[in-house]
Amino acid sequence: MDSIVVQGGGELRGEIPIAGAKNTCLKLMCAALLSEEPLTLTNVPRLSDVATLTTLLESLGCEAALLQEGQSMVLSAAEISNKTAHYDIVRKLRASFNVLGPMVGRTGEAIVSLPGGCAIGARKVDLHLTSLEALGAKIELEEGYVHASAPNGLKGTTIEFPFVSVGATENAMCAAVLAKGTTVLKNAAREPDTKALADCLIAMGAQIEGAGTHEMVITGVDSLHGTTHKVISDRIELGTYMIAPAIAGGEVELIGGERALVASLADKLEAAGIEIADTDRGLKVSRKNGRVKSVDVRTEPFPGFPTDLQAQMMALMCTADGTSVLEETIFENRFMHAPELIRMGANIDVQGGIATVTGVDQLKGAPVMATDLRASVSLILAGLAAEGETKVARVYHLDRGYERVEDKLSAVGAKIERVPE
Ligand code: EPZ
Repeated sequence: MDSIVVQGGGELRGEIPIAGAKNTCLKLMCAALLSEEPLTLTNVPRLSDVATLTTLLESLGCEAALLQEGQSMVLSAAEISNKTAHYDIVRKLRASFNVLGPMVGRTGEAIVSLPGGCAIGARKVDLHLTSLEALGAKIELEEGYVHASAPNGLKGTTIEFPFVSVGATENAMCAAVLAKGTTVLKNAAREPDTKALADCLIAMGAQIEGAGTHEMVITGVDSLHGTTHKVISDRIELGTYMIAPAIAGGEVELIGGERALVASLADKLEAAGIEIADTDRGLKVSRKNGRVKSVDVRTEPFPGFPTDLQAQMMALMCTADGTSVLEETIFENRFMHAPELIRMGANIDVQGGIATVTGVDQLKGAPVMATDLRASVSLILAGLAAEGETKVARVYHLDRGYERVEDKLSAVGAKIERVPE
């Protein structure tokens, strides 16, 4: 397994291209199961999670072809020859659970392994299952697998989610597009990924109104057809690379970045003293006036501050002038980066879902390790600002969600390299 080694201290200058969004792409790939005709995706990020899901889709009978060095992908599910999504793959990638809705919607049956817990929390799937049941599927749990069946097809209904779930909204939406009649999803996720999935389904012939709002109305159709769809820019990669010049200093243009995707982060960075400007090609982010000011952050569903940027923001606040309070409300165990940041000299006190961070004058490089994707990248960001060398172990987490992280950061002047462990 490789490590990433960062020599901290220098400013960042230049441009970074933002890749297609991981969490959009994965759900679009699952949606390919809804049609006999091919779905072509462009702006596909080159990530190990995409490769893992491709393997799962192939195991279900979907043919996958990569074009343009993996930046485009054609998925053809002319026939779903196997209805079981096995534990060996689903446990590696929770997004695999989102094959459930499309398979039940199209074929009336799916057997999908329960994903289990993961480092950031228990991550239950009860809302995925109750919404499929509400649509008329019979759900049985057998030996760690969910067996969902609806031999006579699904029937539209009203589903009100008790709290916002991105994955459950997307699974229910994919199941409902081929159901008989109308489905109303209340308290639906408004994430750009969910809206992008709806846009792709609409291009495939689905009837969906209200995507991007709290309430979606889906009128079932008999079948969907193929289309070509461009994956939107990854707002979490964008946000991560906005925080890079904020923590290291300098000025970086993020090509393909859009403020609307990261408005809650942009507001916080501006309050901390960072300059953000729209350009013809994206967003320009600069830190011109010394140390950033502390700001408080509370994670919330979109359009609130994303949980997937909390770790990176904590790294920034470790270097801020003052004390900030970071509250994590989405996942119950998402402060695993805090002890590692403390090893780099940070001053952080974690009490339940609240981290109080008092900025220090100087972080110090250290060997560190993280057990999830966003925590890992927060340690790289901290390493950019630290004195000396930071070695981030277990880089496979990063490769799940950041395309060529060391190349993108070294192109703007960071001293960063990948080394075999
Ligand atoms: C998606 O996960 C993302 N993953 C996550 O990104 C992201 O952190 C999360 O949404 C929140 O924005 C993908 O899209 C592949 P949820 P998801 O269902 O859909 C609880 C990353 O780093 N819940 O919105 O799994 C759940 O435990 C990843 O890229 C239930 O209790 O998130 C959590 O506390 C990490 N029952 C909360 O709801 C359910 O049935 C929100 O989870 C479903 C969820």
